Amino acid sequence: MRLISLFATGVLVLAATPLLAESDPHSYAEPQRVSVRAIALDLDVDFAKRELAGSAELALQWHDPKARTLVLDTRDLVIDKVEAIDASGKATRARFKLAARDPIFGSALRIDLRAPVPTVRIHYRSRPEASGLQWMKAEQTSSGKHPFMFSQSQAIHARSWIPLQDTPHVRFTYTARIKAPKALRVVMSADNDARHALDGEFRFRMEQAIPAYLLAIAVGELEVRETGPRTAVYAEPYIVDKAAKEFEDTEAMIVATESIYGPYRWERYDILVLPASFPFGGMENPRLTFATPTIVAGDKSLVGLIAHELAHSWSGNLVTNANAQHMWLNEGFTSYVENRIVEAVYGKEVATMQLVVDEQELRSEMAKLEPAAQLLVTDLKGIDPDDGLTGVPYDKGRWFLRFLESRYGRDVFDPFVRAYFDHFAFKSIVTDDFLAYYEQNLASRHPGKVSAAQIKEWLYEPGIPATASNAHSARFDAVDVAAAGFLAGTLAATDIPAQHWVTYEWLRFINALPEQPRVEQLKALDAAWKLSASGNGEIAFRWYVASVRAGYTEVRPQIAAFIERIGRRKLIVPIYEELAKSEDGKQFAIAIYRKAKAGYHPLTQGSVEKVLGL
Ligand code: BES
Ligand code: ZN
Repeated sequence: MRLISLFATGVLVLAATPLLAESDPHSYAEPQRVSVRAIALDLDVDFAKRELAGSAELALQWHDPKARTLVLDTRDLVIDKVEAIDASGKATRARFKLAARDPIFGSALRIDLRAPVPTVRIHYRSRPEASGLQWMKAEQTSSGKHPFMFSQSQAIHARSWIPLQDTPHVRFTYTARIKAPKALRVVMSADNDARHALDGEFRFRMEQAIPAYLLAIAVGELEVRETGPRTAVYAEPYIVDKAAKEFEDTEAMIVATESIYGPYRWERYDILVLPASFPFGGMENPRLTFATPTIVAGDKSLVGLIAHELAHSWSGNLVTNANAQHMWLNEGFTSYVENRIVEAVYGKEVATMQLVVDEQELRSEMAKLEPAAQLLVTDLKGIDPDDGLTGVPYDKGRWFLRFLESRYGRDVFDPFVRAYFDHFAFKSIVTDDFLAYYEQNLASRHPGKVSAAQIKEWLYEPGIPATASNAHSARFDAVDVAAAGFLAGTLAATDIPAQHWVTYEWLRFINALPEQPRVEQLKALDAAWKLSASGNGEIAFRWYVASVRAGYTEVRPQIAAFIERIGRRKLIVPIYEELAKSEDGKQFAIAIYRKAKAGYHPLTQGSVEKVLGL
């Protein structure tokens, strides 16, 4: 790898402007020749056919004067017609070819153009099985009155609902006209208007240039509650007030982030609470974070996820990884900033507990990963970017930045990170860009604090470097004492001093259970603390995994209800994995899956089917 050669002499040297130098292994597009700079969508939302139908107009910027072919990414799109539009606005039919479908990357759409026209218009429809959309029938929603549809474009699913250059290398602005059934509200990652009439036609404008994975849409029975001067919550009626209460600190989070990293540049920060089938915890769609309802716990204990998605407004949406191999630039920086936000708004004690749990879980996860999967900068050629998702870019990335913070001190490191966000604002970069900037603005100005070899170890070697400092939580010391006493049989479940434990103390406790807990132990805990009935998804899924390991089969009805209702992969895939380890467990899991499948998102279906070998 070229990256390594930078270190050959033992010193970091300035990399020659690698902006746009590395091609994206997950896209067929050729943005060096011609790139999309704006998209105008005109789409009808058809719930009966489960399709988006209409057109996408792509404004082009030509870089190679000899180029005549526009290559776009698509997956399962039906292309009806392509028009080339010249500078005078005259449209002529253009010839196109849709390549055979690759199971991971979809079909390249090659459009022949006789001249480097400023615009092409593609008339198309999405397919009902579009990997980036979930279509829900009215009876699958909370009120049962109206259907619901939402998108999830990251990593490479925008191509399943819009033909485009589906690489974060390319940024574009967009507008949209969306027609949907009356009484439903349409929202997008754009300038949503909370007071828009529910009249069946919505228009959007997004003037900040974004990568394709941040294109987002949702349509459903959505109400709005304002939570601050530039924040609001959109949600189905059953949860909108509860969610507005849960997320009432969002403005405080924005203010805290701005004070360290500079102004919030996206105007509004609204949150859309999706149906429980949303496959992720959160998605940082600009101006409108998408979130799972499972973080509405009633006690704000899981709003760190909002801090995370908000942090992406700087790390990810403003400064963007140019391809998934450099995902740590998005997720590692974001996990770092997330923790700084939690510290500023909820205090150091809470922030530290979250760090300790994440660090411990990363260490256990890494123990099971191949060395190549333990690197911060990875080689993902030919690999589905959805498959390689681990805690490494998140938690090892944050750990690396905490290492730099500890060496340089916040007085120096915070302004550096802020300047980095400013310098690369609205650009897509690779690790070498970060390194060159780091070398010039931090390392060379404060020599002797961090060596090139240490940086290289963090980025390009497996494991957690010895230079990592382990976070320590005094509150967890008490949890550990209780866990040890309980497991040794010297402390009864009813005597565990957990009356005032917060979520993270419970996670620490459950993580302290042995690989193979004993059924009687879990029953005693359940009798005392009702863990099987926990309404907190983070506690519940860890507890259910432990229950399956222990053979605590009485909990099966609760497990079935949990995995039938929730589609968030992080919470349910580990339970399926644990169940699949025994023949009897696997039959039980398959039976639940058959019932749950119709309500699952295509991504969740794919993950679960892989685990169950279906
Ligand atoms: N951008 C990610 C979600 C994502 C990553 C989707 C890669 C597809 C491919 C989002 O910001 C995220 O990290 N979500 C986490 C939140 C958690 C770490 C607080 C999630 O959904 O669990
Ligand atoms: Zn993230």
